[in-house]
Amino acid sequence: MCGIVGYAGRRRAMGILLDSLKRLEYRGYDSAGIAVVGNGLQVYKDKGFIANLEAQLPSLEGTTGLAHTRWATHGPPSKVNAHPHVDCAGRIALAHNGIIENFAELRDRLKEKGHAFRSETDTESLVHLVESHYEGDLEAAVRSALREVRGSYAIAAVSSEEPGIVVGARNESPLVVGVGPDETFLASDVPALLKHTDKVLYMMDREMVVLTPDGAVIKDLEGRPVDREPQRITWTLEDAEKGGFEHFMLKEIFEQPAAIHETLLGRVANLDVNGFFLDGFTSVKLVACGTSYHAALAGKYILEEIAGVPASAELASEYRYSHGPQERPLVILLSQSGETADTLGAAREAKRRGCKTLAICNVIGSSLTREADKTIYTRAGLEIGVAATKTFVTQLVGLYLIALRLGLDRGTLGDEEADRLKDELRSLPRAVQGILNRADDIRALAEKYGDARDIFYIGRHVNYPIAMEGALKLKEISYIHAEAYAAGELKHGPLALLTPQTPVLAVAVRDHTYEKMRSNIGEVNARGSPVVGVGTEGDRELPKFVDDVIWVPELSPVFVPVPVTVAMQLFAYHAARKRGCPIDKPRNLAKSVTVE
Ligand code: G6P
Repeated sequence: MCGIVGYAGRRRAMGILLDSLKRLEYRGYDSAGIAVVGNGLQVYKDKGFIANLEAQLPSLEGTTGLAHTRWATHGPPSKVNAHPHVDCAGRIALAHNGIIENFAELRDRLKEKGHAFRSETDTESLVHLVESHYEGDLEAAVRSALREVRGSYAIAAVSSEEPGIVVGARNESPLVVGVGPDETFLASDVPALLKHTDKVLYMMDREMVVLTPDGAVIKDLEGRPVDREPQRITWTLEDAEKGGFEHFMLKEIFEQPAAIHETLLGRVANLDVNGFFLDGFTSVKLVACGTSYHAALAGKYILEEIAGVPASAELASEYRYSHGPQERPLVILLSQSGETADTLGAAREAKRRGCKTLAICNVIGSSLTREADKTIYTRAGLEIGVAATKTFVTQLVGLYLIALRLGLDRGTLGDEEADRLKDELRSLPRAVQGILNRADDIRALAEKYGDARDIFYIGRHVNYPIAMEGALKLKEISYIHAEAYAAGELKHGPLALLTPQTPVLAVAVRDHTYEKMRSNIGEVNARGSPVVGVGTEGDRELPKFVDDVIWVPELSPVFVPVPVTVAMQLFAYHAARKRGCPIDKPRNLAKSVTVE
């Protein structure tokens, strides 16, 4: 996730671009850059915040330009990897948000033709590709280039030979166009435009736009004009940063179909998960903290189920100080930030014990990715809400990819079964969207039970760690005391705490534990506690045993945690909202914990 802006008008572009870009800093702030066409093409960029770039900029003349704030996906944050990228001749500058899937292939081809690459980014291949098609018409060159590109993109491009023109395009990454008198804009998101205009045109996938001071013309990738009516935006700036959602957490919950899609992009067909080492170990140890630890626990079941490899999960803060046996498992470290002190300590300890380490991480170039032997990036984009949501489900997706790869390589998973699982993996964004479409029903339940002092969560097998994650979400943001138990453990103590005032959220989906779950729900019924069941669509039995039901779509049991998690996130969110809690910044908590 990055932010891009573009401007074609009659005012000086520099101030407008920087000001608009700052409204997109929530999309990433690893590096920033600007290109203005005035007296030739002037490009400045640097690592870090936009303010850092601004402090070193000379006054740039020119009324056409573009700018970018980066959330790294290919190549660590650095000046050379910052956008915009420039072609060999220094005529064309291009900024990009998204992932060019076939960048390596394009780069090799263009290098052979003599193009000189300077960065490690996927984007640079695109600017050289545009250059290879450029004959004085930027729009035509971008169109030809995009026909050769696979992946997701929102781009803006300018050429020193065509002042007054910005070319934009989108496919699976957001891009909006703003229209004012004598000027036009483009941006990744509406907040960047609101200071200048409330008239916007939303671009669709595989569309291009040409901005000039006189207007914006949208065409499809074949060059056919598209008729699009501008819409009037009535949001305030603050509303707009959250995309119209009341909190970042809710926005991030709703971004999950896209986050899963991005994380799968280009990886499912050949299970290219950074070619990590699969030899020389007989078991896997998953290590993490907080929400990432719950993904690690789920990972144990996922790896055992799909790949048949013995796996265990351990808290990073415990692993670091334990005395492990002599065997050398593959150690998988999960962390959203890549900066959690305990997880970094665990990575060092794993290496000291002679283990290979693999990180699953959301932040390119973070400390963990430098410590670990290999990294698989989740591509959830910047997460602002302190309570992790989209980064958790994309960690699960990373684990599915690893499990499939491992299963095939170890011969424990047949090709046919792998293909079936891959199809289901690809369907996860749709399954999650199904839950989001029913957010109002979950909200009603959260409001019904949101006054409780204590809530219990129960589940079995892979849904046991998901119950733990559901309980953690509720604790973190609503301050309701919540406990999660493996359903079979209730009778060994916690039943003593159940009263008619203690709701129980039970994951009772149709899998091999279903019958047992029903018995456990019976134990709860007998204490008079209300039960909210999370069940498989079409199950006519479950409603007879529970007070309320949240339905999730039918999937192979190993994938069910994804929609169940999303339902639990919504439940926690709406309970907290009803109680008036500061959802994005819960008391006493921090997004990244860099102390032990
Ligand atoms: C903090 C955050 C949690 C997070 C945990 C681990 O406690 O508040 O949301 O799960 O750290 O963070 P990591 O970045 O390593 O996933």
